[in-house]
Amino acid sequence: MTEDGNSLIHGNTRKPREKLVDGCARFQVLEEGLHRDTSSLENPCTANFTFDSLDFRAIAPIQHEVHGMLALSSMSITQVEFKVNGETRRVDVFPMARLLDVLREQLQLTGTKEGCGEGECGACTVIIDGQIVNSCLVPMAQVNGSEITTIEGVARSDQLHAVQQSFIEHGGAQCGICTPGMVLAAVDLLQRNPQPTEYDIRNGLAGNLCRCTGYMKIFESVVRAYQK
Ligand code: FES
Ligand code: FES
Repeated sequence: MTEDGNSLIHGNTRKPREKLVDGCARFQVLEEGLHRDTSSLENPCTANFTFDSLDFRAIAPIQHEVHGMLALSSMSITQVEFKVNGETRRVDVFPMARLLDVLREQLQLTGTKEGCGEGECGACTVIIDGQIVNSCLVPMAQVNGSEITTIEGVARSDQLHAVQQSFIEHGGAQCGICTPGMVLAAVDLLQRNPQPTEYDIRNGLAGNLCRCTGYMKIFESVVRAYQK
């Protein structure tokens, strides 16, 4: 996986970053025109930031490392509008609030789970504009105008998606923490590749960890889903 913005969203790779002595993180210039470098400021926590032209994909891991404290201390609440599962939603949030938290706590979409909180486990997987991402690494400022699909949007009315049905029939879920992320990863895989090979399935699910099943039931569930 290359260290580009997409892989940062997925949390698969990390850029080196540094901390300032007072515990605040200094925004680093990771991509051209990305953001303001606060290295010359006496107290970067009080700097004013604008977000119009920023690419937040690279900032997300830094925001996570400082647990959002920089965002909370230096940015004001703003309104973000986006679609979730086909429905337009507007929320008033700190720009660097995590999408995961907003989904669960403000929109009550608790199907999206938190495992590691640092982009490693895939429990918080959602689909943004057709791209599968870890919502624990996505700041709200990045999703303005986006279309998001969560696990609540996978079924059609009372008809489960074939992947969901297959997980039920073939024991793909145990405790359920990884299940929404696994299902979304499998749905995304089958949309892009309706006839996946065994390798494709393993690769498609590689960003999602499960502590319960040993993976074989999950793998079998996805195989059965595409054979339907
Ligand atoms: S990857 Fe987001 S909670 Fe683990
Ligand atoms: S079913 Fe428990 S973590 Fe996967």
